[in-house]
Amino acid sequence: MAIERITQPDEQISDNDEQEFELTLRPSDFDNYIGQKHLKDNIQLAIKAAKKRGDPIDHVLLHGPPGLGKTTMAMVIANEMGANIRITSGPAVERAGDLASLLTNLNDGDVLFIDEIHRLNRTVEEVLYSAMEDFKLDIMLGKGPTARSLRLDLPAFTIIGATTRTGALAAPLRDRFGHVHRLEYYQPKEIEQIVTRAASILKSSINKDAAQLLAGRARLTPRIANRLLKRVRDYADVNGDGIIDQISTEKTLAMLQIDELGLDQSDRNVLIAIIDNYNGGPVGVETLAALTSEERSTIEDVIEPYLMQIGLLERTPRGRKVTPRAYKHVGRTHNKLKSDPQSKLL
Ligand code: ADE
Repeated sequence: MAIERITQPDEQISDNDEQEFELTLRPSDFDNYIGQKHLKDNIQLAIKAAKKRGDPIDHVLLHGPPGLGKTTMAMVIANEMGANIRITSGPAVERAGDLASLLTNLNDGDVLFIDEIHRLNRTVEEVLYSAMEDFKLDIMLGKGPTARSLRLDLPAFTIIGATTRTGALAAPLRDRFGHVHRLEYYQPKEIEQIVTRAASILKSSINKDAAQLLAGRARLTPRIANRLLKRVRDYADVNGDGIIDQISTEKTLAMLQIDELGLDQSDRNVLIAIIDNYNGGPVGVETLAALTSEERSTIEDVIEPYLMQIGLLERTPRGRKVTPRAYKHVGRTHNKLKSDPQSKLL
């Protein structure tokens, strides 16, 4: 079983509560969607233009670390287009027939959201090409010499694909998206607004200091911010009068071992492993996974992006290296001569 951490921004699908909680908090239109201004500006323009012409909008590819709101954005786009949305994921569409059935059941203007689109298999991906390009479905009937190909017309639909890894997407698939956007980490101020909005939807009261403190520990990620809010709310309900203030927030964060940069023990273990075993790096990701007992994908998709974002880690062609700031953060002394043999030559 995968270990679930509060600071792990993946959707924790084993937790129905969590999914329901997220659904309640999800903004349904652009006015309530905080942050991602660049993406919003571009998509809002595309939606206005498409509506004016009476067309669906071009296919959209959203990429970026987990928890930043790719699914939410897809739902907002569909809602703003006045369209229905069908949701699936790369691993769920196993055969070309599964895709054919999804596509032939769409209506004009519908949105098909494919999460983890990089995990579609090649055969399915190839069927998707012509579907995306000219709304035709090419399917093969039968096998061997008697096989025939059949071309079906599809409704004019929009695919919204989401991936944490654009690098893993085949170029012909990527090229078929008219809009390709990266979701960026949020500004602390935006996370503060997100938790304040969430608290008010939950009919909880959070004061400004607490919202600010929580925002600073949420890895610039709304999903984590909202999850932390839930924990702090529990603490305030049990130990106080239900009002989320700085003290209840501090106590909860300490209980969860989340430090002032929002790192948990797994993040710190990665930094410490590089420092203590490899003098700060470089070290390969497989070695790091073995040293810390973390999955390679957790290191690559969850731990590293945030450590890089806040300047504690660098990815180099020779492996991962920590920065002097990382030494300071985990309370190790940075010995430049030892960690960088090149500098002895200067
Ligand atoms: N909840 C999660 N993400 C959000 C966002 N970007 N804006 C408002 N509320 C959110």
